[in-house]
Amino acid sequence: MENLDQMLSDAAAAFAAAADINALEQAKARFLGKSGSVTELLKGLGKLDAEARKSAGADINRCKRAIEESLEARREELRNAQLEAQLAAEALDVTLPGRGMGRGGLHPVVRIQERVEALFHSIGFEVADGPEIEDDWHNFTSLNTPANHPARSMHDTFYLQNASNVLLRTHTSPVQVRAMHAHVARHKDAERIPDLRVIVPGRVYRVDSDATHSPMFHQLEGLCIGEDISMAGLKGVIIDFLRRFFETDELQVRFRPSFFPFTEPSAEIDFAFMSGPNKGRWLEIAGCGMVHPTVLRNGGFDPQRYTGFAFGMGLDRLTMLRYGVNDLRLFFENDVRFLAQFQD
Ligand code: DAH
Repeated sequence: MENLDQMLSDAAAAFAAAADINALEQAKARFLGKSGSVTELLKGLGKLDAEARKSAGADINRCKRAIEESLEARREELRNAQLEAQLAAEALDVTLPGRGMGRGGLHPVVRIQERVEALFHSIGFEVADGPEIEDDWHNFTSLNTPANHPARSMHDTFYLQNASNVLLRTHTSPVQVRAMHAHVARHKDAERIPDLRVIVPGRVYRVDSDATHSPMFHQLEGLCIGEDISMAGLKGVIIDFLRRFFETDELQVRFRPSFFPFTEPSAEIDFAFMSGPNKGRWLEIAGCGMVHPTVLRNGGFDPQRYTGFAFGMGLDRLTMLRYGVNDLRLFFENDVRFLAQFQD
């Protein structure tokens, strides 16, 4: 039938004009939908007599199948086009070089700690450590710090709740007495206790926070005990250390009289570079002194026979000076852009 041929070519044209699946489904409805033109023709069959209905029915159904095939072919075309577009959009350039795995590294303070350990190791100092959660006796009492000393006050020290006498250590000095005990016990049968030489790098805590103070920071304790240990030895060790640490002999060191309960006499150590950008500026770097007889006794040494020197430095301070960093907080904010600058 002529109008069936026309209908078929109309449908094919409409399908071809549909630019996407949605438009195609709408075009389909015009021919094959509930009131589409093919459906209307099929509805009209009832009015024909049996003979005519048979042949017209066969013609319409043939046309309907042809329209369906044309529809399916267009669907396939559109699906392929969509897939092509998607593949093109998601294309990977497999020839690009890989991004690689970021390499981690040591924190600048840890790098300085390792450097300091190596320098002291070369003159016979071992590394000792102790707990960060310390008891009142080791942190204060054993160090000759009386019960009414201001360092013990609540606004200087973090005390642990529900545990009187337990606190976050405010300095690395409590390890002095711990290291002495361990050393004396190790040599309890010796006629003469060999020299004790330790450094104690570690975290300490105080209620303090600004550009140069952090509630958690790092100290480096030094302790040397023996039969002939003197203040001259202390000066030699400190001056030698600072020159090697900063890789220059162009620095001056001064020992300023001071007070610490656990040393007698006590001094504050300042140093100044004789060249470079910080030239002539005195920088405070440590406290030190000769170990107080009471502290020696608390550690198991006979103060009549043994003497010792001790010092306490700021490890973060050393790191700031070595790398030229002026805000302590940068070390503890963990911004990778800052930390990555210290890798080799
Ligand atoms: N513990 C002292 C502080 O945190 C520093 C210090 C001073 C340590 C003198 C010492 C020392 O060993 O002899 O302020």
